[in-house]
Amino acid sequence: MKVTVVGAGNVGATCADVLAYREIANEVVLVDIKEGFAEGKALDIWQKAPINLYDTRTVGVTNDYSKTAGSDVVVITSGLPRKPGMTRDDLISTNAGIVTSVTENIVKHSPDAIIIVVSNPLDVMTYAAHITSKLPRTRVMGMAGILDTARYRAFLAEALNVSPKDIQAVLMGGHGDTMVPLPRYTTVGGIPVTELIDEETLNAIVERTKNGGGELVKLMGTSAWYAPGSAAAQMVEAIVRDQRRVFPVCVRLEGEYGIDGVYLGVPVILGKNGIERIIALDLNEDEKQLLETSRGHVKEVMDALDNINAAKA
Ligand code: NAI
Ligand code: 2OP
Repeated sequence: MKVTVVGAGNVGATCADVLAYREIANEVVLVDIKEGFAEGKALDIWQKAPINLYDTRTVGVTNDYSKTAGSDVVVITSGLPRKPGMTRDDLISTNAGIVTSVTENIVKHSPDAIIIVVSNPLDVMTYAAHITSKLPRTRVMGMAGILDTARYRAFLAEALNVSPKDIQAVLMGGHGDTMVPLPRYTTVGGIPVTELIDEETLNAIVERTKNGGGELVKLMGTSAWYAPGSAAAQMVEAIVRDQRRVFPVCVRLEGEYGIDGVYLGVPVILGKNGIERIIALDLNEDEKQLLETSRGHVKEVMDALDNINAAKA
């Protein structure tokens, strides 16, 4: 299996590293626009192979998409990261231009690839990649839900003093402050979380999760990369190994949850064809309201992108 990762920055290089050391792909091509940057990162990952004992071939290129030809999966991380004081939506115009041109190059050289978008604002960049690629919605998706759920699970594990491995959870909606964690669908070793934690602590964890990206931006001056890179690699693994994992993934909704034409995180089954199935949960009235707020926010940013594109045309 051949996997291309576009953007050799913090998230892209971490994703490539996980794909290599866990031997998720036979070949990983790392692409960046900065001369020599992807080559250097790829060489460093390759030189780690004799130490960590893997044989995934890792190659870096500067904007040369001919080397990405025939990729099975492509992860797009190119774009500006969020800086302190910046919302994800501030990034829209610059990152949409980058994601659009990258997607054109990807589909030209790998028409059968499955595309995973990571660049922010995530839901709207998935929209940009999807309309540019003209691929079916099952083959163009965004990574955010695995990351947001991982943050939620990590906070819960800490509060309950249990292994994060035993916390199962699902989270829906856009990647941002309007994301919709679902405590009703959160379990600890099969036990509903509400039986193990008081409401106030749980609500505080939900709020911390919603601001999880911003918390790290404040601490580091740039956005996170270890968990985001690993989350993207986990999606690649589910696809290339046809694992049929159940993950929250951003996809264009076409009637599911009563929503049409908006890109939102929902639980899906991920396998060799990309999104094999969208799982429709029976949400209660409060959850429906939260999802509607999230839908409205993402749609506003999609409209903003449409206006930018119309002004350019
Ligand atoms: P970074 O700045 O470390 O890396 C971005 C890389 O993209 C840079 O090396 C840059 O040279 C490259 N790039 C820019 N334009 C390009 C082009 N046209 N072609 C190829 N490469 C190009 O940023 P980082 O931290 O890796 O973040 C990348 C993106 O991922 C950002 O938009 C960030 O907001 C987003 N992100 C999304 C998350 C999610 O959950 N969906 C989580 C974390 C970050
Ligand atoms: C994150 O959630 C900023 O989207 C980025 O870490």
